Amino acid sequence: MSIGTGLFVSFEGGEGAGKSTQIARLAEALARQGVRVLKTREPGGSPGAEALRHVLLSGAAEEFGIRMEAILFAAARSDHVETLIRPALVSGTVVLCDRFMDSSRVYQGVTGNLEPEFITSLERVAVNGVTPDLTVILDLPAAVGLARAKARSDAAASAPAAPDRFEREEIETHEKRRQAFLDIAAADPQRCKVIDARQSVDMIAQAILTHVQPLLHKRGHGAVAAERSAGRPQTERVE
Ligand code: TYD
Repeated sequence: MSIGTGLFVSFEGGEGAGKSTQIARLAEALARQGVRVLKTREPGGSPGAEALRHVLLSGAAEEFGIRMEAILFAAARSDHVETLIRPALVSGTVVLCDRFMDSSRVYQGVTGNLEPEFITSLERVAVNGVTPDLTVILDLPAAVGLARAKARSDAAASAPAAPDRFEREEIETHEKRRQAFLDIAAADPQRCKVIDARQSVDMIAQAILTHVQPLLHKRGHGAVAAERSAGRPQTERVE
């Protein structure tokens, strides 16, 4: 749903699909055009939601059950939407969000086996009318994504980093999630665009821009971009 003149783009996909690289690339491309961009992520993105991030990713909430986890993700999302995303959209900012409501549909709903009505009710309360204008789904076979994610964490740490609560799960679970994202896209092709994440970083970045530009244009950012093309890039990072 459109809020103000802003544009809300969420990025979804399994582990190692390259979401953060592509978010950074898109943010740079838009900032170069003089568009105001906010990069954010879930779970987290606002102080209240970041407070819940550690509880969720460490697995500290796991023993209390999948319902409790789903409610915590929704609580974090509600705080993120009301304190950061909605005000940014109202002020005409382009919001790029690493994961959003579709991650809850997939991780808690499909592979967490929660009833669809439960997930739908939580989603309605958490997003409170703020849904992405565009959702980019970076699609990758689970084995490829997991191998990439592992290589990344091994390279980043002298001792290999421990996988988080969700990365620890079996490959079949990751493959099920991949299919669940594809099913969401098939049910909502207007909002969701699936991109093959095995392509080069440049090709993926180009494909994403092709989906974003017409939406920006519709909101009048084309004119802003032309006026400000000589101006300084404007990006903010919220983590
Ligand atoms: P994160 O470290 O942000 O990495 P990435 O997005 O690169 O995987 O991990 C977020 C984890 O939280 C990820 O495994 C998916 C999970 N998650 C849910 O289970 N439900 C949700 O609603 C969200 C937003 C994330």
